[in-house]
Amino acid sequence: MSKILITSALPYVNGVPHLGHMVGCLLPSDVYARFMRMMGHEVLYIAGTDEHGTPSEVGAAKEGMSVEAYCDKYHARHRQTYSDFELSFDCFGRTSSEQNKELVYHIFDRLDENGFIEERTIKQLYSVDDERFLPDRYVTGTCPYCGYEKARGDQCENCTKVLEPTELINARSTISGSTNLEVRETKHLFLKLPLIEEKLAAWVKSKEPFWPDMAYSIAQKWLKEGLQERCITRDLKWGFPVNKPGFEGKVFYVWFDAPIGYMGITKQWADEKPGERSWKDWWLDAKDVRYVEFMGKDNVPFHSISFPATLLGTGENWTMVDYLKAMSYLTFEGGKFSKSEKRGIFAEDAVREFPADYWRYWLMSNIPEASDSSFTFDSFAGVVNKDLNGVLGNFVSRVLKMTASKIGSEVPAGGEMTTLEKDLTNSLQEKTNNYLKYMEEMEFRKALNELRAIWVEGNNYISVAEPWTVIKENPERAAAILRTCINLIRIFAVFSAPVMPDVAEKMLAKLGLKPEDMPSLKNFDVLKEIEFLKPGHKFEIGETLFERIGPEKIDELKQKYGSEK
Ligand code: MF3
Ligand code: ZN
Repeated sequence: MSKILITSALPYVNGVPHLGHMVGCLLPSDVYARFMRMMGHEVLYIAGTDEHGTPSEVGAAKEGMSVEAYCDKYHARHRQTYSDFELSFDCFGRTSSEQNKELVYHIFDRLDENGFIEERTIKQLYSVDDERFLPDRYVTGTCPYCGYEKARGDQCENCTKVLEPTELINARSTISGSTNLEVRETKHLFLKLPLIEEKLAAWVKSKEPFWPDMAYSIAQKWLKEGLQERCITRDLKWGFPVNKPGFEGKVFYVWFDAPIGYMGITKQWADEKPGERSWKDWWLDAKDVRYVEFMGKDNVPFHSISFPATLLGTGENWTMVDYLKAMSYLTFEGGKFSKSEKRGIFAEDAVREFPADYWRYWLMSNIPEASDSSFTFDSFAGVVNKDLNGVLGNFVSRVLKMTASKIGSEVPAGGEMTTLEKDLTNSLQEKTNNYLKYMEEMEFRKALNELRAIWVEGNNYISVAEPWTVIKENPERAAAILRTCINLIRIFAVFSAPVMPDVAEKMLAKLGLKPEDMPSLKNFDVLKEIEFLKPGHKFEIGETLFERIGPEKIDELKQKYGSEK
């Protein structure tokens, strides 16, 4: 057993997650955490809301709330959505916590002592009416290159030119629309990444054999381009005030404090049970911790370059990422998810339409691992109808109904294993080994293919063994077949549990088993497990596991969630 630390990119508190966010980091991190727990490891699975920065300030102003109240509101909403999606965090915390503030100050002080912080004076646009400096993205104006009137201070959406906010014609504040802007000087703190570059490059290099190609090549690309000093402070009110004389009224940049949030949230978790838990056991001078992070590929530069450099700069022995699983994007009916255009299905709506496990299964089967993948309602309904209802659900109900009606509501006695069962066991053992290997390696698409193939084995077995025919001539043999099938239901439940925890529980409940009765997946021995449920063990048919999704429903969903546009 080893200690496995698992984190997901921390979702911005403003804005609600859509399916792309779910599959991009949160859901696969949960599936992996559940799997590793079932493999017998000691897992700590941490996430939370990323709360600082201008978008929270602007969002709060729009809703006429204080930023604190706004973050409380949206934090609660994220928490509810993830709980509906059955994400099994050990702690879902917040980057704005006192615990995080303490750690941010600690890390900043170490960097400063070690000579990695530099003061610089820069010029920035100040909005007199808003009484604040404007971050690049909060300046709008006419593009000097193409004349597009709604260009943003950092980039023109129309001609894609990268801009300085001071270049814009008729520049105005995105917040208030005011054009009363001035260029003012302001002092900021920079992290001297070039001084840490060598140490960082050696660390990245050491990860080459372990990181997946996508993550490693993104990190290498950044290193090749050479690192620049990075500004880690902002002229905002919302954030952690900079703890250095001369920087009153400034806060740390959201990307400086957010990843430190992983430690802050672990401290929140530890503080819930003082004396019993220690955040340092996982993060500082921690022994035997394997750290796995999940994120969208746009997050890779922060987690492979700036955050590790921050940690290295402290000179302390922080736990650093061992494996970085980066995902591409999910598109929606061939386009982008867009909240403003009302295109795409958001996580909170999704669980109102169908149980979370339907989504979890579709998303994990189609995870954008190697390249982008596309969500369509046709595909979703096809997978639910075919894999879940047709293969898994149908097997379970067929076996239990047939046994109950022909023999009785308990595992039947009589008969023995024949070569047919031995072949089945061998073949299942091979697929099981593949499934476990792929899950461990986080090759989720391959793992889900194996899982489906395992269910298909059950259907193939029952079609070949034909218990409904055999029972007329040879009831003992039919009993042995159905006993095998009932044991398969248990095995399918166990393997499905990381992906579809609720369905797995329902399957076990039909067999009179509780979630605590779930066996370990480590060295799972099919030959032994296929005889786990003994003759006489009671079962009940219970409710059906999945409902088919009909064509009218598909049309309704397409209408409702904007795929027709
Ligand atoms: N909020 C960021 C995003 O959604 C991710 C922050 S990850 C963290 O892109 F580690 F920095 F917290
Ligand atoms: Zn332009």
